[in-house]
Amino acid sequence: MLALPFLFLSWLLKARDFDEAKVLTLLRRSVATSYDTSEDHYNMISALHKSVRGSQPDAALYWLARMLTGGEDPVYICRRMVVCASEDIGLADNHALPLAVATLHACQQIGMPECRINLSHLVSYLSEAPKSTRSYEAYKRAEAAALGESDSSGYGKSYLYNPDYAHPVLNAYIPPQLQDAKFLKKAGDVSDKMWDEDALTTWEHNVNGGMPWEGRTNISVDKSEHELP
Ligand SMILES: *[C@@H]1O[C@H](CO)[C@@H](O)[C@H](O)[C@H]1NC(C)=O
Ligand SMILES: *[C@@H]1O[C@H](CO)[C@@H](O)[C@H](O)[C@H]1NC(C)=O
Repeated sequence: MLALPFLFLSWLLKARDFDEAKVLTLLRRSVATSYDTSEDHYNMISALHKSVRGSQPDAALYWLARMLTGGEDPVYICRRMVVCASEDIGLADNHALPLAVATLHACQQIGMPECRINLSHLVSYLSEAPKSTRSYEAYKRAEAAALGESDSSGYGKSYLYNPDYAHPVLNAYIPPQLQDAKFLKKAGDVSDKMWDEDALTTWEHNVNGGMPWEGRTNISVDKSEHELP
């Protein structure tokens, strides 16, 4: 939708009677008609987030550019990327969050148009980064336990300050009834993940050149439990 006004723009720029005011009016109109509803904000930020999560830098940069050329606030976009850095990349790459926060700072301090370069850097980085939801999912488990548990009696009665001892000591770090809770799963633990044979076959066919996914041989998921009807 933006292509047409930009064609006009390049034509105007070449024209001898180039009129800056006319060009600006044209640009404003193109922006107003192509990106102006709250639905656009919601759909495009969501499309950007999904593209980054799916490790698709080209798609992610496309949605970033759609939003920025539509006049979107770069700070709004970057806030979502800060969340994404921890939610989707998390422990797989601990540089993601500091880069996202530095970019947020750049968006706030520098603003457009320069900060689009920083945002492009961030979105490219997050797209290519390995992904892990381990810490995000661990927090959700911990939160569910915290909300369901108000009894913390028996916790912290006799705390032994570890550095005082020449040997390891045992403390009760958590209420006794949660003593064996495992919120943070081991890296690579996929025991509670879904297995969708159709979705995997489609991926192998369209993305992996028809070859079986390497994880088929060395990943153990309880497939029976997750088989779709
Ligand atoms: C943002 O990008 C500009 C242009 O490349 C660069 O000069 C600046 O250092 C960047 N800011 C941050 C915080 O990375
Ligand atoms: C499968 O094993 C190979 C070789 O050990 C490893 O490089 C690869 O990352 C594993 N794939 C998955 C999905 O676990």
